[in-house]
Amino acid sequence: MKSIVIYFSLTGSTKKVARAVYQGMRGHSDFCDIAKMSEISAHRLIDYDLIALGSPVWGGVPLNVRLFFSAVPSLKGKHAIAFCTHGILPEPFFPQVISLLKKKDLIIIGMNDWYGSVFRPTLPKPYYTDGHPDELDLKEAEVFGREMVELSRRIDNGETELIPTFPETPELPPSNLPKPMPTLMKEKCRFPECRLCMDNCPMEDIDLSVSPPRFARNCTSCFFCEMICPTGAVYIDYEARAKASLGRVKEVFLKRLEQAEAEGRFRRLVPKEDIDPTTPYYKVFDKHPRYVIPGD
Ligand SMILES: Cc1cc2nc3c(=O)[nH]c(=O)nc-3n(C[C@H](O)[C@H](O)[C@H](O)COP(=O)(O)O)c2cc1C
Repeated sequence: MKSIVIYFSLTGSTKKVARAVYQGMRGHSDFCDIAKMSEISAHRLIDYDLIALGSPVWGGVPLNVRLFFSAVPSLKGKHAIAFCTHGILPEPFFPQVISLLKKKDLIIIGMNDWYGSVFRPTLPKPYYTDGHPDELDLKEAEVFGREMVELSRRIDNGETELIPTFPETPELPPSNLPKPMPTLMKEKCRFPECRLCMDNCPMEDIDLSVSPPRFARNCTSCFFCEMICPTGAVYIDYEARAKASLGRVKEVFLKRLEQAEAEGRFRRLVPKEDIDPTTPYYKVFDKHPRYVIPGD
């Protein structure tokens, strides 16, 4: 059996989980690979029998992940698993990922999710789910990877009744939060010495080497370019979005999290009293860069 873990991760949580799932799978597959989505061609997936897809939740499946999958050929009869990391609201991910995988004729044999740390300029910092995924989460992810390989093998050996059903449910409506657009202030930009926004835009939607520069035409509002820019050359007016986001935290998110905690689905790692729900990250981290990409 040849298996692969492919993942997208902007701030590292899904990467940690992907590596743990890979550890679990590797010990039990004949051959197992791991690859960042940006570093593998969609057509290569045809070489594998079991494909594990890992992604953060971005109001559903991030657009770059959906675009990657649109280029994947039919993988009829092969097995797929999907996992994600998320903040407080993972639900929109599942219907989208099921439909994405089924469109490629994959047989979905498992899904899982873990809380992740959240770096959103319009949400509080520290955030309620920060500290995840921790050692315990990663142990679980490793076990999940191992179990999925065993399940895939048993299904291949004829135990098709073990294939779980993942019904295609209607997608949830997209959020109606304001979507402020980034603008480039050329006088502050240090290109070509600095290429951080260009090299890290998940949509590969920034090219400062052309005239005029191509800047965030298909922006997905991840705000990463603004967060990592060391000079403040990327400007985003966060105010309206932050007001709406903090309102949602108060009215929706906190109740969800308390419910998850009461049901034992959420382990709080940051004490409540350490979080200021009225002040967004961008006001706490008011110097540039607001976020430094950690080394490997
Ligand atoms: C653009 C964007 C949208 C997000 N939308 C959601 C969401 O709808 N629900 C949720 O629970 N978390 C959401 N999050 C939080 C991420 O899912 C969470 O931080 C995840 O663990 C990040 O994974 P990564 O570190 O691998 O990038 C969002 C984060 C970003 C950057």
